[in-house]
Amino acid sequence: MLQLSLVIITLAATLIVTGSATDVFAHFMVQNSWAYDLEQWKEDMLSAKSIGVDAFAMNWMPPDCHDDLQWQESRIDDAYEVAEEVGFKIIHSFDMSWTGCRVYWNTTFMADMLKKHASSTATYRWNNSMLVTTFGGDSVKQYGNIFFEDLKAKMKESDNAISLTPALTQYSTKAQKMPAQAAEEMVRDFPTADGYLNWQAWPMEGNLNNTCKADEAFQSALEKAGKTGPYIMAVSPWQFKDLDNGNEMDAWVAPSDWLFVKRLQAVAKGDVKPDIIELLTWNDWCESHYLRDLPGNFTSASDYVDMGAMRMYVAGQNHSPWRVIARYYIAWWKKGKKPEIEKDQVVFWYRVHAKNAQCSQGSDKIRNSDLLEDSVFAWAAVMKNSTISMSFGKKNCCSFHADASSPTLGSVPFPGDLGDGGTKPMIAVLRGNETIYQGTGPKPVTSWCTTKNFNPVVGLVGQGDDDRSRE
Ligand SMILES: *[C@@H]1O[C@H](CO)[C@@H](O)[C@H](O)[C@H]1NC(C)=O
Ligand SMILES: *[C@@H]1O[C@H](CO)[C@@H](O)[C@H](O)[C@H]1NC(C)=O
Ligand SMILES: *[C@@H]1O[C@H](CO)[C@@H](O)[C@H](O)[C@H]1NC(C)=O
Ligand SMILES: *[C@@H]1O[C@H](CO)[C@@H](O)[C@H](O)[C@H]1NC(C)=O
Ligand SMILES: *[C@@H]1O[C@H](CO)[C@@H](O)[C@H](O)[C@H]1NC(C)=O
Ligand SMILES: *[C@@H]1O[C@H](CO)[C@@H](O)[C@H](O)[C@H]1NC(C)=O
Repeated sequence: MLQLSLVIITLAATLIVTGSATDVFAHFMVQNSWAYDLEQWKEDMLSAKSIGVDAFAMNWMPPDCHDDLQWQESRIDDAYEVAEEVGFKIIHSFDMSWTGCRVYWNTTFMADMLKKHASSTATYRWNNSMLVTTFGGDSVKQYGNIFFEDLKAKMKESDNAISLTPALTQYSTKAQKMPAQAAEEMVRDFPTADGYLNWQAWPMEGNLNNTCKADEAFQSALEKAGKTGPYIMAVSPWQFKDLDNGNEMDAWVAPSDWLFVKRLQAVAKGDVKPDIIELLTWNDWCESHYLRDLPGNFTSASDYVDMGAMRMYVAGQNHSPWRVIARYYIAWWKKGKKPEIEKDQVVFWYRVHAKNAQCSQGSDKIRNSDLLEDSVFAWAAVMKNSTISMSFGKKNCCSFHADASSPTLGSVPFPGDLGDGGTKPMIAVLRGNETIYQGTGPKPVTSWCTTKNFNPVVGLVGQGDDDRSRE
């Protein structure tokens, strides 16, 4: 009898944790949507949808944090309206890390914001509960487990139970070195969390081989504790930030050379099995991990962003072709099988100066910069076996065979002599004896620089993706 009931309990536990979704979120900085009108929201949502993104996770700060942030609420209202129209979803991601203005979220206001759109078809739900995420909530003393409990209670009282899936950054940071311990502590210290978003999509200092160990540890800790919320794995193409304020802690690059492909591949192949992946980010310019097109460079643009000093390392550094890579692996993950390659596309990315180049602007030292490779990196997806040639300055060294069955990776190091004006890499797709596509990099790589810039440019050789015409 005892044995039988144990079996039943085990079975029940197994059933509870099978709520898996294969949904994709993109982290969206509401602060950068100041100029958005409804048309602009539509363009962004359709562009995201075309690569398989299901929802934007709306990162925002308390509206009276700074005088000039009151408009955020109406942008979120607009986003809901357009999302309903185009069949897209919205999640709130409360930014609970910012202390600069000494104004904090309160649960009454948060609950009001959540309730406001509770009946919208655009509200993302996890097993019928409205899903709520955060950035932080563990590191500022005004928040914490009790704060979250209060929020959940308020929502439950109004018949709008939420599934709380916070990104508790201290635990995610610790998990890079001590995954199992950090995950156990998170579950112990935040019993109110239903799920978890592991923000740490980048390897930390020195740890070049970021595996999915932290992701596995958090997911397994949630399962062990019988949690019903989702495990959200963060996936990001890059990270570079330089506030150029003399503080070494505010100038860093994460070792990101192959990061995006590696983590997307691990998800697609099922090496790690999150319920949801969150792309970091759609439009965070300041940390160089945007996937969206660059905003318009004129103040009347409906996606205008006043970048201030960030412009130094963001202007002209287009990342859009990275979405081609995301689309491929997302499709693989969602279908559960490797997609047929239906276009010839080589996506390539590189930084625009050698890592040891002397620059007149920007911080003297960028943490982790010596961990990056001075190379052009390429991801080639071709319909038929091809040779991808990558020539760079006098180094006409590097061609590789790209197989039609899977994307193939290749790279070519920066040449020793980049010339006075710098050198652009050239990429070509050869099949049989013919060059079927060729192109040069969008910017030259130089041995000197005015501004120190570890934010890469991303190019595409081959057929483009027309976002708007694809569903
Ligand atoms: C709660 O937060 C909102 C938005 O920031 C603010 O307007 C309101 O005054 C706050 N309420 C309290 C009691 O602090
Ligand atoms: C990363 O992996 C490479 C080989 O794949 C190995 O040589 C290196 O020691 C590893 N680095 C770390 C920090 O584990
Ligand atoms: C879904 O919600 C119901 C009712 O709240 C609960 O009984 C069930 O265990 C949940 N299922 C999962 C997979 O979380
Ligand atoms: C457009 O870009 C240029 C060059 O980066 C910059 O100097 C200028 O301020 C930008 N204009 C606006 C309106 O942002
Ligand atoms: C394509 O290349 C692979 C090796 O990468 C080879 O096994 C396969 O036979 C080739 N296919 C054709 C059609 O040549
Ligand atoms: C490529 O060119 C060589 C020399 O002209 C020729 O022998 C070979 O048959 C050609 N290969 C293809 C696939 O056309």
